Amino acid sequence: MSRIVYVNGEYLPESQGKISIFDRGFLFADGVYEVIPVVNGKLVDFGPHVERLERSLAELKMRWPCSKVELHDVHEELVKRNHLKEGIVYMQVTRGAADRMFNFPQDIHASLVAFTQVMALVDNAHARVGIKVITTPDIRWLRRDIKTVMLLAPVLGKQEAYEKGAQEAWMVEDGKVTEGTSSNAYIVKDGKVITRPLSNRILAGCTRRALFRLSRDHGVEIEERLFTPEEAYAADEAFLTSASQFVMPIVEIDGKRVGGGQPGPVTRKLRKLVLEEAQK
Ligand code: PDD
Repeated sequence: MSRIVYVNGEYLPESQGKISIFDRGFLFADGVYEVIPVVNGKLVDFGPHVERLERSLAELKMRWPCSKVELHDVHEELVKRNHLKEGIVYMQVTRGAADRMFNFPQDIHASLVAFTQVMALVDNAHARVGIKVITTPDIRWLRRDIKTVMLLAPVLGKQEAYEKGAQEAWMVEDGKVTEGTSSNAYIVKDGKVITRPLSNRILAGCTRRALFRLSRDHGVEIEERLFTPEEAYAADEAFLTSASQFVMPIVEIDGKRVGGGQPGPVTRKLRKLVLEEAQK
């Protein structure tokens, strides 16, 4: 069955959802996006995602395409029209369409598109056994705190992972892990979770934020510091977080088994806590 998608004020069958070839998202990757999970037909963490969108737009001096209330309505409407029980809503805002010029065109209207995608988030086969990751150099720009659609480095990193039989790539800069191509990165040592502090070098994950809150409430210690791939190989556990994977155990890094090759107890506890909250 064809999906109903949202394109600049209209709900359309996906085959009719079209944007201009002059759209600056298409020409310059001049756009930002969000991915919001849906569990039991309900949006998870809409507020933090919109807060981050607001920041991304402000950092790029981009106009809002609509009000926050309208944006929420679009999300709810897409979930309803597509009978989405579990999956994600993807939304993308671009600066709009105009003749090709690098500087911002005058009188341009921001463009908004959004669509749903069905995904198994809660009962996920990978989550039961854990995934494999590889490491790869972080070749991205230095404003990774902005969630732009400029995703070629992550595309290449993820492809490299798949070609090597893994599911994610952890990017490495100055000998330290920054984050996954589409997720935040964590290791666990002696019961303590270790993850990189927020800066312009990584995206401030909404799932990371929920994980921090739940960890604090349930007595799981988190240390924010840089870590190396070697430290990750020797860790007791490793995992990643993202809106489309929640907490995903990692059992192998660069071909080396982590924590006996099984999802570890801290990771399983955190996945359970995050999922319980998402299902409320
Ligand atoms: N990616 N880091 C990067 C580089 C990401 O692209 C993402 C999310 C995250 C995790 O953020 P959050 O927990 O808010 O999803 C971290 C989304 C899921 C994607 O591009 O599909």
